[in-house]
Amino acid sequence: MEISLSILNMDYNHIEEELNKYREEIKYLHLDIMDGHFVPNISFGPAVVKSIHKENDFIYDTHLMISDPMKYIKEFVEAGSDYITFHLEAVENVIEVIDYIHSFGVKAGLSVKPNTKVEELLPYLSKLDLVLVMSVEPGFGGQRFMDGSIDKVRLLKEWKEERNYSYLISIDGGINDLTLNKVEPYLDLVVVGSYITASKNPLENIKLLKHNL
Ligand code: DX5
Ligand code: ZN
Repeated sequence: MEISLSILNMDYNHIEEELNKYREEIKYLHLDIMDGHFVPNISFGPAVVKSIHKENDFIYDTHLMISDPMKYIKEFVEAGSDYITFHLEAVENVIEVIDYIHSFGVKAGLSVKPNTKVEELLPYLSKLDLVLVMSVEPGFGGQRFMDGSIDKVRLLKEWKEERNYSYLISIDGGINDLTLNKVEPYLDLVVVGSYITASKNPLENIKLLKHNL
């Protein structure tokens, strides 16, 4: 399992310096894109992603919490995304969006909010490169992990093995060394924000997480 580090709560004034701290330990950067409509918060857009991207070679795991992903996917591809994940709740034609992401040679992910049943993902699983289970209500970092997500990742793992699917199983929100224990056996990629970036000793916390892997 790998860690995907959310930059949502980082100090953007010193982003390069911040990211330099993690170069050795972290392979994936999780980019939370919020439009103030799909979620009640606004974060940053493709121009920011592009300017960070120039400086490093992390794998870019872009999480679109926006109402109209089709409209912005191309810009996030051009900004350097390797994975683009959108929300099932945001679109009518899920297959169309997955195919559009794939048309750029970029990996496609699909995410569900806490109140959406994981079974709703079943028709799309064979086409996906990543499935992202939200373990908090999307919009903000630093929230409490919701236990309802445990069964979701467990089922995703079961389906993946039974049917030989290739998606990465990922979870997002409220992860620390204790909550990771509850879901670790089912995950390929774990999104972590404040447990690392708001810590006085981020590298120590990464160690504690990796201890579980
Ligand atoms: C929430 C975001 C998360 C968040 C994770 O809407 O999608 O990626 O930044 O932050 P923590 O780990 O602090 O919950
Ligand atoms: Zn996220």
